Amino acid sequence: MLNIVIFGPPGSGKGTQSENLIKKYNLEHISTGDLLRHEIQTNTQLGALAKQHMDKGELVPDEVIIGMIDSFLDKNAGKVTGVIFDGFPRTVAQAEALKNLLAEYKSGVSVMLNLEVPDAELLTRLIERGKTSGRSDDNEETIKKRIEVYNAQTRPVIDFYKKEGKLANIKGVGAIDAIFAEICKAVDAVK
Ligand code: AP5
Repeated sequence: MLNIVIFGPPGSGKGTQSENLIKKYNLEHISTGDLLRHEIQTNTQLGALAKQHMDKGELVPDEVIIGMIDSFLDKNAGKVTGVIFDGFPRTVAQAEALKNLLAEYKSGVSVMLNLEVPDAELLTRLIERGKTSGRSDDNEETIKKRIEVYNAQTRPVIDFYKKEGKLANIKGVGAIDAIFAEICKAVDAVK
């Protein structure tokens, strides 16, 4: 399986570039943020718990997220050519869990694409998106908190994949197509 982790701070382009990757490489896509928003929209218990954290820009507890990935792999592993993990892992504990879960299927992460975008650009993009997205976390105060949480809790995941020899740093500023071309080079190198 070609397993791609698309990684970066809020607003770095994970969702945008995932769409391009799905089309080009025919991969299954899992976005933990999208799954959680679906749980909220359908008024589930999990959604109610997730909302408490997401509206404050905080992370949803690891065990909830890891459970979601476990059941996703249960349904898909072995049946698909590969997976794009978007917005996951977001803590070192999640990265370790993903390694163990994929090992059960004699698989592993092929590459971690780390989209690098300065904080000021993230803020500009997400405030702009917030005008139409309807996302309750796309307001200036919560965006700033999400970036702070990324720097404190999520950034260490970069070192985890560096040690695993899976890290590909991608400059995430500029034309979407030009960024995607760099992404393709990194993916093609591990295919
Ligand atoms: P999640 O849904 O994953 O959101 P996020 O990481 O904050 O990322 P975004 O969706 O905001 O941005 P993106 O990087 O996908 O960028 P996009 O392509 O949309 O998570 C939301 C919340 O859920 C978290 O805060 C947390 O509470 C919870 N959660 C989710 N996963 C979790 C986990 N694993 N563990 C714990 N909690 C979890 O682009 C952004 C904007 O920029 C768009 O408008 C786009 O058009 C634009 N854009 C993209 N590329 C460019 C470019 N090159 N130039 C200019 N504009 C661009």
